Amino acid sequence: MTRHLLAIDDLGDDGIEEVLRLTESFVEVSERAIPKVPTLRGRTVVSLFYEESTRTRLSFEAAAKRLSADTMNFNVGASAVAKGESLRDTVLTIEAMGVDAVIVRHASAGVPVQVARWVEASVINAGDGWHEHPTQALLDCYTLRERLGSLDGRRIAIVGDVKHSRVARSDVAAFASLGADVVLVAPPTLLPPSLVGWPVEVSHDLDEVLPKVDAVVLLRMQQERQNEALVPSLREYTATYGLTRRRAGLLSDGAVVMHPGPMNRGVEIAADVADLACSVVTRQVANGVAVRMAVLFLLLAAEARP
Ligand code: NCD
Repeated sequence: MTRHLLAIDDLGDDGIEEVLRLTESFVEVSERAIPKVPTLRGRTVVSLFYEESTRTRLSFEAAAKRLSADTMNFNVGASAVAKGESLRDTVLTIEAMGVDAVIVRHASAGVPVQVARWVEASVINAGDGWHEHPTQALLDCYTLRERLGSLDGRRIAIVGDVKHSRVARSDVAAFASLGADVVLVAPPTLLPPSLVGWPVEVSHDLDEVLPKVDAVVLLRMQQERQNEALVPSLREYTATYGLTRRRAGLLSDGAVVMHPGPMNRGVEIAADVADLACSVVTRQVANGVAVRMAVLFLLLAAEARP
């Protein structure tokens, strides 16, 4: 087993299967009256989030606590980073306190890889720039399997701002590894400049794609990462690529709607579509905790102290 989880490819096909298999037991733990096991007692997990987050940060914290690990939270705004401390010095300071895992989120791609070179602890990428967000992809896979069974031969559309989306990059790698066919649906300006090596098809016609897919993953417009106007207007984007109520009606029976959150209701997804029975958005959040327990378990429990 890999020591770090920096990208989906670190796991390989077998590793993904192992995380999904373990997740099932941690879903069971999460449903107990007291959802806690002693597995990581005495281990310390620190969250190093240089970018804002609601779901991912709380989810990792809940996961670590349910495994009885001690958790430390690093708040960039309230830290010595505001006094000019470098990333390296910050990381080495944290490591000197004796931590077993560092969960990193940063606006720049590659930061978790760099942190992994500096520390002995396990590093988990909780989202780096446009690059990867592996635990999101794993919880997406688990949630899809829960609703659809095997993903082999299933067709999944990923719709929206693929260009700036680390979720899309990790999802494509994970879905393809489980045998799904992925179609990206976006205007050309919101697709990466090159798709060479991406195991995907591309479409610009959401109405045509929707009836043929088993799942649709909607992506938020990453306006904080866009420094030019990539769509004429948000209203125009919604009219062409938003999952409106009418478009949701084009989905086949049993098809599921996903969104990693945070949702911009009324932009990529109509306000009421997120609450339809086909939407698994809250299930994704619930499964996220169990998936992160599985990842922490895999990275830390093998060398757990007695
Ligand atoms: C995503 C992220 O931060 O990459 N959110 C998440 O982790 N659930 C997607 C987004 O910000 O749109």
